[in-house]
Amino acid sequence: MTSPLFPVRLGLGTWTMGERRRDRAREVAALRLGLDLGLTLLDTAEMYGEGGAEEVVGDAIAGRRDDVFLVSKVYPHNASSRGVVAACERSLGRLRTDRIDLYLLHWRGGVPLAETVAAFTRLQRAGKILRWGVSNFDVADMEELVALPGGDACAANQVYFSLGERGVEWALLPWLRARGVPLMAYSPLGQGRLLGHPALARAATALAATPAQVALGWMLAQQGVVAVPQSANPVHIRQIAAARELALDRSTQAALETAFPAPTGPRALAML
Ligand SMILES: NC(=O)c1ccc[n+]([C@@H]2O[C@H](COP(=O)([O-])OP(=O)(O)OC[C@H]3O[C@@H](n4cnc5c(N)ncnc54)[C@H](OP(=O)(O)O)[C@@H]3O)[C@@H](O)[C@H]2O)c1
Repeated sequence: MTSPLFPVRLGLGTWTMGERRRDRAREVAALRLGLDLGLTLLDTAEMYGEGGAEEVVGDAIAGRRDDVFLVSKVYPHNASSRGVVAACERSLGRLRTDRIDLYLLHWRGGVPLAETVAAFTRLQRAGKILRWGVSNFDVADMEELVALPGGDACAANQVYFSLGERGVEWALLPWLRARGVPLMAYSPLGQGRLLGHPALARAATALAATPAQVALGWMLAQQGVVAVPQSANPVHIRQIAAARELALDRSTQAALETAFPAPTGPRALAML
């Protein structure tokens, strides 16, 4: 199942990219390899490497922009009426493109939401962004957002969601599903920390896969969810791409549910 918004359910993130000049060629090559393998959703932000990650993405998509679904994010302190337009122009320049497919408010800050939504709507009308959404919004934030003029056009909410961090399943994910808003799962590998868990190792051995693939296979079985793991390692990128083919059998699903139980009550939204 692909969400009507997203062309693919598995993409690549860029959080720690663009920070060091010497890593640039490797990072660009990793993203290009991912695009070759069909990981055509790229997630970046003006914050990552203070623009450096967007420049890496700009290099990676050069000559193949139309094949890519591009997500970037505005800093909350730039999310004012004028600030968001200027930030978007800077991002477009670094990405070397004329449009961003999905532009997110990175997290809630001090600018009134109504002002940010109005600015997003203007950017959308101008064709600079094709859709807008939010990140790190819990249910109460979403309720407030959709009650604003134009707020119901929110196209996605990007939050921390992994096998090890399942709090969103209690209320936020059902809320988003009921309204047809996709959840973008960030850090779906728990920033790599999840991968040493013995239950994942056992499942990986049983399925002739890797722990990362099992974690992503589990994520892809969740309806209404799109995931953006990150790697600059070509072996890992190939494994991520191959996770789309992994089907988790019932006994593996059950073992994972036992090792990583679903929430049994409300929890504050986890953020990184
Ligand atoms: N909206 C937000 O506030 C927010 C917050 C955090 C993240 N994000 C987005 O989500 C993306 C992903 O999150 P993340 O980077 O924090 O965490 P992640 O994707 O959960 O984990 C990345 C780590 O997993 C390792 N890894 C990746 N593939 C692997 C594989 N096949 N086998 C073994 N290890 C593997 C990577 O190492 P190698 O590089 O060595 O492969 C890296 O250390 C970010 O890049 C960013 O775009 C958004």
